[in-house]
Amino acid sequence: MKIGITGASGRLGGEVWARLRVSAANHALIGLGRKPAASSPATNWRRMDYDRPETLGAAFAGLDRLLLVPTPDLQPGALGRQLCAAIDAAADAGVGHVYLLSALHAAGTAHASDLTRGYTLAEQRLSERCAHATVFRTSFYVETFAAMAKMSIPHGTMFGLAENKVSFISRGDVARSLAGALHADSLPRRHYDLTGPVSVSGAERAGLVAELSGRPMAFAVMSKPQLRDALSRASLPDFIVESLVAMQETFAQGAFDLVTEDVLALTGHAPKPMKAALAEAMQ
Ligand SMILES: NC(=O)c1ccc[n+]([C@@H]2O[C@H](COP(=O)([O-])OP(=O)(O)OC[C@H]3O[C@@H](n4cnc5c(N)ncnc54)[C@H](OP(=O)(O)O)[C@@H]3O)[C@@H](O)[C@H]2O)c1
Repeated sequence: MKIGITGASGRLGGEVWARLRVSAANHALIGLGRKPAASSPATNWRRMDYDRPETLGAAFAGLDRLLLVPTPDLQPGALGRQLCAAIDAAADAGVGHVYLLSALHAAGTAHASDLTRGYTLAEQRLSERCAHATVFRTSFYVETFAAMAKMSIPHGTMFGLAENKVSFISRGDVARSLAGALHADSLPRRHYDLTGPVSVSGAERAGLVAELSGRPMAFAVMSKPQLRDALSRASLPDFIVESLVAMQETFAQGAFDLVTEDVLALTGHAPKPMKAALAEAMQ
């Protein structure tokens, strides 16, 4: 069987690749991206660029299974455009089964952000074009939260648009789940929601950050204009400010307040507890 992995030079795709090299050693693994991953032999690499649709068909030809990892491109419209081009190319190339990494907020329609719209568009295109496909909606990565927490430590406060709960998941658990689904003998269901083991409130996660860092940390609610102002003062480009505000909106809407047993179903192990995952990510 030929298994193609996009984003294989990145952190998530790289971990999926490393796991499959062990667990799916009897299959042909093919890394797909703009440049080869350090860990993959050049013979197992095909060049593709989500922004150059003409590169996609040849890259996906002959694949039995294909994992589509979105890029971190936050430019307006990029996510939906890139993923839809890849889904069209996979359908045209006759890929056996497409595995799409999406996010829990793809389910949201109220006040949808550009990122939410991108995931929703991709999921719709997948259901229209690929009869054999699976969507993996993930909760928010512990590692991304840890990076935000570290930046907040000097100020002693983390902000949200409302008190909210999020079922943070470690990137390792996402990688384990995807690798499990990609090399299983049987094909996965049409849809999984990958979440951490519990949903954690703003106050609870501030408490965890305080405990792990040994520094005071509180959770506070601010308005959307106040949050936008605070982020703009950090000299971030407008589209990044808007993405961060939109992310806090999805938290406030409860889009990430869901706990499932799908990681256990795919890996045979419960997801890592938030405190242990956060301690690792904050090192
Ligand atoms: N749910 C969450 O909380 C959450 C948090 C973080 C990330 N994510 C999602 O998960 C994805 C993977 O995360 P990560 O930590 O592995 O990110 P990462 O380490 O930044 O890896 C991104 C990968 O995308 C590839 N890429 C970028 N632009 C590309 C293009 N135009 N064509 C083909 N490949 C391209 C990169 O390859 P190059 O070597 O060519 O740059 C790299 O392999 C992110 O992109 C994001 O969509 C979700």
